[in-house]
Amino acid sequence: MKNRLAALSILLLTVSFMSCSDDKVPYLQFDNRDGVIRPGMTAEIVLTVGFEDDTTPLKPGRTLKKQFSEAPAVSVSDPGFKIVSVKQNISDEVINGTIIIRAGDELISGRSAEISAVWGGLSAGTTLNVKKNPADYLDSDGVVTDPAAYDVLVNKKRMLPGSYIPPDLVRVDVPTILVFEEVNHLRKPASDALNRMFAAAEKEKGFSLLARSGYRSYKTQVSLYDQNVAEYGAEYASRISAKPGTSEHQSGLVMDISSPVVNYQLTQDFGKTAEGKWVAENAHRFGFILRYPEGKEEVTGYTYEPWHLRWVGEELAGKIYAEGLTLEEYFGQ
Ligand code: DAL
Ligand code: ZN
Repeated sequence: MKNRLAALSILLLTVSFMSCSDDKVPYLQFDNRDGVIRPGMTAEIVLTVGFEDDTTPLKPGRTLKKQFSEAPAVSVSDPGFKIVSVKQNISDEVINGTIIIRAGDELISGRSAEISAVWGGLSAGTTLNVKKNPADYLDSDGVVTDPAAYDVLVNKKRMLPGSYIPPDLVRVDVPTILVFEEVNHLRKPASDALNRMFAAAEKEKGFSLLARSGYRSYKTQVSLYDQNVAEYGAEYASRISAKPGTSEHQSGLVMDISSPVVNYQLTQDFGKTAEGKWVAENAHRFGFILRYPEGKEEVTGYTYEPWHLRWVGEELAGKIYAEGLTLEEYFGQ
């Protein structure tokens, strides 16, 4: 009897040892790597404990449960992102943690944060990337509801309100070409970035760049568009010029630039000059993108404009440049 009891307890111990898997070394990882978070919204990310060989179910025993009994210590690299909650779930089947992060309302698409966790003596990391969904910012008349956002998407299908005037327009502090004062304005961060870009072009390459057309009110775009229709006909005009309300220039985040090498004109030849090539390769360092690249008319609705620079901030510009995208493609539109 004694022997049978001993044998039974050994068997039970072995079975529980095997099913607990406490002899294996666990790892810690975030389920979602490179996740997306919307500005002003929360995202849930899950931290999982598993085994390297993945074929063994975790079945946590006492040792593992003890190892992960304290809550995960979570930190975020960017103060624009807030940790809302950290919860742990420890059962006989799994050990995982659920972390809820909130992105600030003001965050521009392209901003990202590293999320780090230390739990049970192990560590794991992941990235959260802010990307808005433009469809959430469009009313039923095709008018955008986020006109003042630095990452606003304006195109033939997404108009700015006719009465929209950007809140922080300033007179640019770089050489300009036109005497019409309105177009020598930009929103403050875009103007500061333009200063830095023109100064770098001069310092690094000795290039002179000039600003030609920046902010244009709805009313100015009416006369410009009408002028283009009269000169080129409606069909061609719509490939090179935006109908009033649909021009990015009304956002105050765009500057058309030129240079003495192309006689201060807005011409596709600018893209072939050393100045134009430098701009194409370096504008992102200052937060600008070439909004209408060559060969993308199907996507953007406009022919190649090597002079039309749209400010979106350095993070987003860097991503769009590195991935060779248009703004529409970045947003999946
Ligand atoms: N030339 C660009 C498309 C505009 O008119 O806004
Ligand atoms: Zn332009």
